[in-house]
Amino acid sequence: MMTNETGCNPPRHVAIIMDGNGRWALQRGLQRFRGHHQGVEAVRRVARAAREMGIEYLTLYSFSTENWSRPKAEVSELFSLLKMFIRRDLADLHRDNVRVIIIGEREGLPTDILPLLVEAERLTAKNTGQTLVIAFNYGGRHEIVSAARRIAAMAVRGEISVDDIDSGLFENMLDTRGIPDPDVVIRTSGEKRLSNFLLWQLAYSEFVFVDRLWPDFDGEDLKLAVSEFQGRSRRYGGVVSESGSRGTGS
Ligand code: IPE
Ligand code: IPE
Ligand code: MG
Repeated sequence: MMTNETGCNPPRHVAIIMDGNGRWALQRGLQRFRGHHQGVEAVRRVARAAREMGIEYLTLYSFSTENWSRPKAEVSELFSLLKMFIRRDLADLHRDNVRVIIIGEREGLPTDILPLLVEAERLTAKNTGQTLVIAFNYGGRHEIVSAARRIAAMAVRGEISVDDIDSGLFENMLDTRGIPDPDVVIRTSGEKRLSNFLLWQLAYSEFVFVDRLWPDFDGEDLKLAVSEFQGRSRRYGGVVSESGSRGTGS
């Protein structure tokens, strides 16, 4: 595994709430969609930087289930950008050995987008480099409710008993099955909330909030956020021994 300049291992999984595209555009007297276009450039830049830093999993929040409440034109612009990103960047991502996974609700998505999502995952399924997780039409509460429904259906069919339901089974019903929980979640633009992102998976993640708007975010900002994370003490409910390692208190 790669180490950074400080000699620390990079976090295994970084998740980013990419926020501030609209404000970036408005500050320049531009329409909001221009901010979204610049936001795609930031995605390319930051994903590349994350690969160079040896980050194994990068999750990007690109459209929430609540974003449907935006004006219709903005929603279709965001959908077009995802389509364009997949069409233009999929071959490069594949060449760079990136595995693409798309999480979120697929029902109700326009029919021209679904085959692209399926193709992106299929083409890159066997890649062994970075895993790029795109949260699209994603909502944490919806994901948890869907998992509960699936488990209830299994119980009704008699495939499992109520005693079989534990965290492991639950995790396997989430869109993120098989993906380690994020070590750190970064939100840009100065907002300090989760906005329904990975509610289950972020239980013990570190949070780094940065003021920079997403279209301005770059590899240096990612490094800064990662080094802030590396200065944190993760205790998972335990205590830290004098040597700095996590202990059970016994
Ligand atoms: C993030 O930027 C992109 C999406 C949520 C899709 P915003 O569009 O939320 O930008 P602000 O928060 O209005 O500045
Ligand atoms: C969160 O940003 C969703 C994404 C980044 C895709 P929003 O801009 O939609 O969140 P709120 O509305 O400010 O909470
Ligand atoms: Mg926003």
